Amino acid sequence: MRVFSGIQPTGQIHIGNYLGAIKHWVELQENHECVFCIVDLHSLTIPFDPSALQKRILETAITHLAVGINPEKAILFVQSRIKEHTELTWLLNTICPIGELGRMTQYKEKSRQFKKNINAGLLNYPILMAADILLYQTDIVPIGKDQKQHLELTKTIAKKFNQKFKQTFKIPQAQIPKIGAKIMALNDPKKKMSKSVPQSCLFLFDEPQEIKKKIMSAITDTGKIIKFDPAKKPGISNLLTIYSLFDNQPIEELEKHFKDKGYAEFKKSLAKILINSLEPFRRKRKELLSREIYVREILNQGAKRAQVIAKSVIVNVRKKMGLT
Ligand code: TYM
Repeated sequence: MRVFSGIQPTGQIHIGNYLGAIKHWVELQENHECVFCIVDLHSLTIPFDPSALQKRILETAITHLAVGINPEKAILFVQSRIKEHTELTWLLNTICPIGELGRMTQYKEKSRQFKKNINAGLLNYPILMAADILLYQTDIVPIGKDQKQHLELTKTIAKKFNQKFKQTFKIPQAQIPKIGAKIMALNDPKKKMSKSVPQSCLFLFDEPQEIKKKIMSAITDTGKIIKFDPAKKPGISNLLTIYSLFDNQPIEELEKHFKDKGYAEFKKSLAKILINSLEPFRRKRKELLSREIYVREILNQGAKRAQVIAKSVIVNVRKKMGLT
């Protein structure tokens, strides 16, 4: 079974990215053929600084390695290095119904957020994502909830292509965690934690003082009871989810444990759990920051391995479409 997933090098990785996606990649690499992609082409659809892009890509690669992606098991590579992604995007553009693109939630949100930069790439973003996935004949796509709609569109495109040009692509399945698929913003628990809103995030490599400050000031509802109720108590419910996932304890146990305790005590305890759980990641990252050549070599090797798969698939696609 082949696994494919991707992440944008648009900023530091936060605990939402980790709990919703990357944590599961680390588990999947043990018994699946995994392909993980740093999607730099996707990141061009929102405002960015070209002189900082290479640094961001390298940092994103370091993050993968620091949290446990093993380059001997999984392929880790940068999207723009494999030209087949852009070629397949164009080919899929010609079969994707335009109406589907305009109703994508991420497109609507991003065009509201970046009103002065509503570019065609933002609209076509999900087609590039479909190309990423289909180019590797992917079986499983481990993602957070926010990417579900894009995955559904990927399936629609694949089925349409198979119907029109004969069986070509595997139909991929999303793998979305039952708990942690949508970690909410610390500054507004009704919205998701998002890299493009830094004040919403707890980053994986935040220093202990920062973690404490962010958790203690995380927005919670008025009231005193520590209870999981996302509709009425979104703030506390989000923090309970984070606590439960980092401490491997069911939410019900936490509710019992904190029954007669207040928010402050609960938050102090959560900050401690996070400081300890994230410490090995911070340590590994610091070590990797001084090994840039080693990290670049991992990306080179990853690209070579990805290229072999991508090439064989695109040759078949060209043939099916009558281009060769
Ligand atoms: P990106 O870079 O926004 O996020 C990477 C992964 O993190 C998940 N995620 C979250 N999970 C839980 N709670 C949150 N608050 C949260 N925020 C983000 C995302 O669902 C994602 O799995 N379009 C993708 C990148 C991509 C891709 C692909 C993914 C490009 N091609 C092919 C899978 C397959 C994106 O922007 O992810």
